[in-house]
Amino acid sequence: MTDIYTPPATTQTITNNQSGLAFDENTFKQFGYQIIDEASSYLSGIRERPLWQAIPDDIHRVIREQELPAEGQPFEHTLAFIQQMILPFPQGNGHPCFAGWINSAPAHASILIKPLEAAMNPNCGIGDHAGQELERRTVQWVMELCGFPVEGSAGVFVSGGSEANFTCLQAARQWAAQIDGWDVRAEGMQGMKRPFVLYMSDQGHFSLRKSVEAMGLGRNAIHIVPSTPSFQMDVQQLRQRIQEDRGAGMRPFCVAATAGTVESGAIDPFDELADLCAEEGLWLHVDGAYGAFGILDEQVAPLYKSIERVHSLATDQHKWLSVPIDCGCALVRDKAALRNAFSVIPPEQDEHEPWLSEYTLQRTRRFRALDVWAILHTTGRNGLAAAIAHNNNMARLLTNQIEAHPDLELLSSGPLSIVRFRYAPSELRHRPDRLDQLQKALTRTMQRRGRAFLTSTRFRGKEALRACLVNYQTTAADIQTIIDETVCAGKDSIA
Ligand SMILES: Cc1ncc(COP(=O)(O)O)c(C=O)c1O
Repeated sequence: MTDIYTPPATTQTITNNQSGLAFDENTFKQFGYQIIDEASSYLSGIRERPLWQAIPDDIHRVIREQELPAEGQPFEHTLAFIQQMILPFPQGNGHPCFAGWINSAPAHASILIKPLEAAMNPNCGIGDHAGQELERRTVQWVMELCGFPVEGSAGVFVSGGSEANFTCLQAARQWAAQIDGWDVRAEGMQGMKRPFVLYMSDQGHFSLRKSVEAMGLGRNAIHIVPSTPSFQMDVQQLRQRIQEDRGAGMRPFCVAATAGTVESGAIDPFDELADLCAEEGLWLHVDGAYGAFGILDEQVAPLYKSIERVHSLATDQHKWLSVPIDCGCALVRDKAALRNAFSVIPPEQDEHEPWLSEYTLQRTRRFRALDVWAILHTTGRNGLAAAIAHNNNMARLLTNQIEAHPDLELLSSGPLSIVRFRYAPSELRHRPDRLDQLQKALTRTMQRRGRAFLTSTRFRGKEALRACLVNYQTTAADIQTIIDETVCAGKDSIA
């Protein structure tokens, strides 16, 4: 190992058994306090350090070339490595001026709870213990938070929004096949009578596509429905497409709508979609990975009308609930439909309340519920609602600042906390190619400057900057920093 990494001088053996898997009680405590100190200064110093910095080549090399130790190392060395090689190079989320992707800051309650979760280490897929019991109840709290009916529904914590979508869509597929008199789990997709079709709008997230692919339906099973100028699924076009597909001998089975599209935060019209799906006998799924909890903000809550009528809802706790990565939750309105998609024990053989592995792909599952429960218990519905409403207000402030700035061009804003815009000084407004390159270059320059963080993607034919505000600590001063840094990085990128 090069001298870039300096292990501490102490090399005493601190383990109390041969393998190094256990520490004596005092050593455990001593290191525990040290780690809490470290985590605390990481959090409190977040504004003082660069938001992001590139990993220098020599550190890259140390990380990549480290050898698997044959003999265990003192735990001081383990900690020193993390302090020197890992902690200085975060992704940047957690910093109040980070507005890239949809990555929030972790809530303190669930950071602190981690050692207890790991110390207990229950398998929340099987057994009779507090871990599964708490998950059952916490999932119901999640349902209550996002207006999903509790009675008769089921849900499980999963790794994130992608897996939540996948889990719900498996239930949808099994449900549809059963209606047609066959069992998708027994027969597979090989003998499929009529090709299944799932509808999503052109604003739907690619994890829906991945789910359809992984379920063996093939990408052609996705029919894309155009969105309206406000980026919502166009229900008239959907209705027409369903008729055409039926006429062509296909089997429409599911509409996958979105609560908070990844590009612009749009919320599909669940009311109309629920009516249409009821008429047509289709499963209505909602991808709420980003926006399901937006319903807690009273100003936008009316947009979620009829969310209680959907068949399934994918939510993501590691986005707007500030649960440390990773955690999502799949909610299905008909408990039996979710179980049918994964169960290995026929319900008539139940000797106890079904274990949670009956409702999901995983058999061994970590204690995600404790993270979520700790936040919900410590923050409460009102605390979460205030944090989410605050983010939406900060997005409105950002929108106003963009509109007031001569070199910035607003592309989309609201109803939630995503704002799309461009750095477009007047001398370049007639040069679309140059402007497209500039947005990409700007995000790289901004990243290197280390004071704010935005990502860019192509949106309706234009490369655009995208700010997604999901950090509970972002203030009006931080919004000003994001504007100032955009303009600075834009000027630097032109030069
Ligand atoms: C609308 C939407 N759906 C699904 C996902 C995927 O969620 P995850 O990254 O937690 O798997 C995202 C992630 O940004 C999203 O915005």
